[in-house]
Amino acid sequence: MASASHSPSKSSSTLFQQSILRSQDLIIPVLEALFRKADHYTVHPQNTRLQNKVVAMLFFEPSTRTRFSFETAVYQLGGKCISTENAGTFSSVAKGETLTDMIRVVSSYADAIVLRHTQDNAAQEAHDRLCKESIHTPIINAGCGGFAGEHPTQSLTDVYTIRKELGRLNNLNIVMLGDHANSRVVRSLACLLSRYENNVIHFVAPPELSIGKDILMFLDKNDTPYTLHTTPDQVLSDADVVYVTRLQRERLARPDLYEKLKDSYRLTTDMVRRMKSSARIMHPLPRVTEIETTIDVLPQAAYFRQSDNGVPVRKALLDMVLTDS
Ligand code: NCD
Repeated sequence: MASASHSPSKSSSTLFQQSILRSQDLIIPVLEALFRKADHYTVHPQNTRLQNKVVAMLFFEPSTRTRFSFETAVYQLGGKCISTENAGTFSSVAKGETLTDMIRVVSSYADAIVLRHTQDNAAQEAHDRLCKESIHTPIINAGCGGFAGEHPTQSLTDVYTIRKELGRLNNLNIVMLGDHANSRVVRSLACLLSRYENNVIHFVAPPELSIGKDILMFLDKNDTPYTLHTTPDQVLSDADVVYVTRLQRERLARPDLYEKLKDSYRLTTDMVRRMKSSARIMHPLPRVTEIETTIDVLPQAAYFRQSDNGVPVRKALLDMVLTDS
């Protein structure tokens, strides 16, 4: 549904009627306001802020946490969802309709569109199409693409979790362990962490799965130091956060790479013993084999608390995007 004051998402100091496309567009005052709202929603989960609002969920890729947490957020704030969870099959895209035509149509039914897609630039294209027609329905990127992709609402959940677990978002040693070549989550999180002072990011990945140069350039530009490793041995004992991601099998360029790389990294209980007791282990989930399940009961394991935080964080985001107070 159209509104008057929308402008493209670019380091805006408010989120009202903004599309949420990339985490690097989010600046600290906005993040702090969002975290305060998420704190509020953790204690007071229900209200009617989204009464009379309709949010469309267009998911072209599988999702458990992102879609259900968005839908829970909408319902608990008094709004309504329209959704398709397998949009490539159950929408007119299966008949040949373009994504942007579909977005144009849905934009007149919904107050915001939450979009997950296989293509890196899908959310941006959707936003551009609506801007071109002066339609002001915000697009929220719920994870688009891989090797050049972004997942800004996951990274908001991640930094909110770090803030809650460790009480700060600066002076952190962050070890990222996993598939960095294909993970939109790692890309978005690295950009958000670089907003805060004195963070050092240690990327640990097999050579085939190393982080994109564009993200390293972004970190350089923001004076965020980083190191690159193929094993975590050197960096584990000083880590404040160990952020693990699964091998993104569905995005690998060659099928034989999966067999080659599937056991190339794993966080074990022995490795956790070498970590600080105050350190936190995080994972966007789904976990496959890259974190031993015996770790789940240890106090450092924060990944299920992290997924719980997805609901208050997405409530805060929808509240800020859809209401003007
Ligand atoms: C992530 C994603 O979809 O990129 N999942 C999520 O949203 N929690 C991570 C993944 O699929 O590995």
